[in-house]
Amino acid sequence: MNDVFLKACRGEKVPYTPVWLMRQAGRYLKQYQKIRKKVDFLTLCKTPELAADVTLQPIDALGVDAAILFSDILIPVEAMGMSLRFYERKGPVFKKPVRRKEDIDRLIVPDPEEKTGFVMETIRILKKKLNVPLIGFSGAPFTLATYMVEGGTSKNFLLTKRMMFQEPQLYTSLMDKITETVIRYLSAQIDAGAQALQLFDTWAGVLSPQDYREFALPYVRRIIDVLRRGGFSGEQIPIIYFVGQCAGLLEGIRESGADVIGIDWRINIDDAINRVGKDISVQGNLDPCALFLPKDEIEERVGDILNRASSARGHIFNLGHGVLPETPVKNVVAMVEMVHRLSSK
Ligand code: CP3
Repeated sequence: MNDVFLKACRGEKVPYTPVWLMRQAGRYLKQYQKIRKKVDFLTLCKTPELAADVTLQPIDALGVDAAILFSDILIPVEAMGMSLRFYERKGPVFKKPVRRKEDIDRLIVPDPEEKTGFVMETIRILKKKLNVPLIGFSGAPFTLATYMVEGGTSKNFLLTKRMMFQEPQLYTSLMDKITETVIRYLSAQIDAGAQALQLFDTWAGVLSPQDYREFALPYVRRIIDVLRRGGFSGEQIPIIYFVGQCAGLLEGIRESGADVIGIDWRINIDDAINRVGKDISVQGNLDPCALFLPKDEIEERVGDILNRASSARGHIFNLGHGVLPETPVKNVVAMVEMVHRLSSK
């Protein structure tokens, strides 16, 4: 079992810097496209054998040091009682978003095995096949709330912020329900065999530092706090917290309680390390578009990030956000090799 990734999460000594990529399974791989021709995205997420196969594709193709469960952050939201569809180009859509008290009252806190048993089954299948650690995940409450309130992806998140500012009690009751759902969902993933967890707070970077502390951070802290105390399972596993456009929020983010902070590419990783402190590991932070550069320039940037991150307690190499569908696979393979070679001690 390759445990270099788990060691870096905990800040232990490692022989080289481990690497995995957000969205490492997906449309840039032709093996993925082949399966997607036969089934739609949600069916793929809900068919454990297929979801497990797709999770394994980048492990074989890239030689990364961790696997991430193939699923989507909106799966547990659908389980709360919201009808979900994915459209080409447009992405996820909730036709009936939550806007009023009745909408929130109607939502359930789902039993994860009963409503999302396919996710736990995928984890159990993967555990038998993997020789690298498996990362489970969930969306963080604020990011999930934006999809539920806006009904899909948004530009300025006005409807979510309007609920926050004009109807704070409504907002709090929604966030409480999501938080409880996430705690149960992640606890079930630990029980099924996940060895690390990542919380995706893709959109929290649209909040001011003050609003982030009031309207997003407390719920993340509650999740991590409960999971730390053993959750419903009792196992202590590393928790990674990724916030998109994190640069303005790092002082708040460091208080989340996470073991690892995901850093996007809009800030130098050494600056981020100075702000989150030396008792937390970091993950990141190559611009996903840098994979479209010539190889020698990719190598220069990989080397620069490795150097800048050398003062961290632990560093896990990753992109600053997900792999883009147009990315040339050979550059991704080359990048993983570069990280391993340049960081070998
Ligand atoms: O990282 C991985 O390889 C694991 C799988 C994974 C997916 N989505 C697969 C996916 C993970 C961890 C996610 C998380 C996710 N989903 C996030 C947070 C991370 C991020 O990217 O910011 C968000 C915001 C979503 C919601 C979502 N899912 C959107 C906005 C979209 C549409 C955009 C797009 O790229 O099409 C999806 C669809 C999606 N999720 C795809 C994949 C592989 C593409 C589906 C397809 O095959 O057509």
